[in-house]
Amino acid sequence: MSAGAGAEVVVVGQIARDLVLVVDAVPGPGESADVRRRREMLGGKGANQAVALAQLGTRVALVGVVGDDEAGGRLLDQARRDRIDVVHAVRRAGAETGLIVDIVDGSGRWRYLEDLPPAVLLTEADIAAARPLFRGAAWVSVQLQQPPDAVRAALAQAREAGARVALDGVPPEDGRAEVIAAARIVRADAREAAILAGEEITAPARAVRLAEDLVRRGPALVALAVESGNVFAWPGGHLVLPLDDVPVADTTGAGDAFTAALIAASARGDPPERVARLAVAAAGATVRHPGGRPDLASLRDRPDP
Ligand SMILES: Nc1ncnc2c1ncn2[C@@H]1O[C@H](COP(=O)(O)OP(=O)(O)O)[C@@H](O)[C@H]1O
Ligand SMILES: [Mg+2]
Repeated sequence: MSAGAGAEVVVVGQIARDLVLVVDAVPGPGESADVRRRREMLGGKGANQAVALAQLGTRVALVGVVGDDEAGGRLLDQARRDRIDVVHAVRRAGAETGLIVDIVDGSGRWRYLEDLPPAVLLTEADIAAARPLFRGAAWVSVQLQQPPDAVRAALAQAREAGARVALDGVPPEDGRAEVIAAARIVRADAREAAILAGEEITAPARAVRLAEDLVRRGPALVALAVESGNVFAWPGGHLVLPLDDVPVADTTGAGDAFTAALIAASARGDPPERVARLAVAAAGATVRHPGGRPDLASLRDRPDP
């Protein structure tokens, strides 16, 4: 893709090296386990989302940080091969590229070992340097696991550019109401939804009420995960969709693929029900394999999600 210009969606989020190790059972102290399967790939929530958007046919740019080590170069090469504009991805001098080790056991439960020191998180200055990207974008997707200063800077750039904002996670407590009011899409997993609600959410009906409450504050679409599925609300409607009935190898990255699908389908003007169904299909496609890298090519342009 051409340098620096033309991205329809700018994703602001983590880039990391993902090392996925599948074992039958996680060993206890003083024990060992054979690794059944090993995968190494471009990962981190921002990169996963950007890969998913590219696979769904969206022109996407990624703003995130890698180190100036060999691993960082490899990850950016992979992102380019994935048709992601990384002209404004940051190669931080002296930093070691982030690493996430995803240990998945025989029943598909993950444990993460995360080495994401401050040097590989976004700063206000990183966002400021990416200004030309924001200027041309129709959508900005902000992963709220980044430092609040960077999040605020990205939101300010989006506002200045007149771009629509998609959020995944929990906005910083300070200024949360304004951040939600300014977003077009708000998405949270079950744990994050509980933080937004201020209480544990078990019943889908409670999640629907929270989603409707959030929609009243401004967003055009809110999606919240509950244990049994996902709930969606928009002005004038809501939908509760169960999980896809597929074998779950690892849920890692399914939320990132889900969010990417919400954006891709919204950006092309799909009605909310269709947006919701594509998101669940994207998550369902991602849980089938170990590791967070999505594989959504088959969902692109499919006639009836
Ligand atoms: N079988 C499934 N079919 C469809 N969606 C699924 C399935 N299993 C899990 N999901 C969804 O995957 C998402 C996982 O989100 P999240 O925990 O944010 O993942 P991550 O942060 O690793 O990307 C949730 O929305 C959940 O409902
Ligand atoms: Mg998530």
